[in-house]
Amino acid sequence: MTSEIKTERHAGVLTVTISRPDKKNALTNAMYGALADAIDGASSDPEVHVIVLQSEGDLFSAGNDIGEFAARAAGSALQERHVDRFLRSLASTSVPLVAAVQGKAIGVGATMLLHCDYVILAEDAQLITPFIDLALVPEAASSLLLPLRIGHARAFEMFAFGAPLPAAAALASGLANRVVPNAELRSEARRAAEQLASKPYGAMIAMKRIMRDTEKLALQIDVELGVFAKRLESDEAREAFAAFREKRRPDFTRIRERK
Ligand code: COA
Repeated sequence: MTSEIKTERHAGVLTVTISRPDKKNALTNAMYGALADAIDGASSDPEVHVIVLQSEGDLFSAGNDIGEFAARAAGSALQERHVDRFLRSLASTSVPLVAAVQGKAIGVGATMLLHCDYVILAEDAQLITPFIDLALVPEAASSLLLPLRIGHARAFEMFAFGAPLPAAAALASGLANRVVPNAELRSEARRAAEQLASKPYGAMIAMKRIMRDTEKLALQIDVELGVFAKRLESDEAREAFAAFREKRRPDFTRIRERK
């Protein structure tokens, strides 16, 4: 249990709020566990017809907690890695997912949006996937979904350069449904969710099941998790995590990895 993930159920809508604003909503193992529990609970609750994902503070999420990445790189073992469960739940739920995104959505904060069915961005939203800058690889089936959505060229650019994709460009690329003023973000998400919740639910989940190839997504997530785990223990990644901790730029020039 963590107080950094809040849930509220009302009128067929489960609202899940990421609430760790002092750390820019960076996600910890405990938070992944609570997110997975919320999605799994909604998937088996006939009263929940839509999930809204939102967060508190000026920024949607800074992605995975880099301190926890560093701990994994240093060999500390967790009893259960909830991120794996979260990614599988996110990719397999047939409950429609609505996301409300303000400010930066970084790493898994951005890639989780590829699993959301209706994405509303605030005007200041930016999608950022800096996996290569952290000497990691894309996850959450984004190595499959992002090229499918926006083409290989633009997906490669987002992953390799890690440059922010502003809200308007994300909308134009088909990564979002709407861009709204920040002040209207939550009310727009609520309005969309309630509208979706009022539709015939059997048809809605049947549609989602035929639109998303969950088996393929699960396979891609497994492949990515294997490569990701190896990258986490690399000298390059250790340098990236140390640089973040020490608030400096990483220096990869002296690290030579075998091809
Ligand atoms: N993991 C752990 N802590 C994080 C974090 C992350 N991913 N992102 C931010 N934080 C922490 C900072 O360490 C800082 O903690 P402190 O107050 O104890 O020093 C706090 O959140 C505020 O962050 P700060 O960097 O001071 O805020 P900012 O507004 O200048 O920048 C970000 C915000 C999100 C742009 C910047 O923190 C950042 O780039 N974070 C890393 C994002 C990232 O690479 N995520 C991994 C993707 S795979």
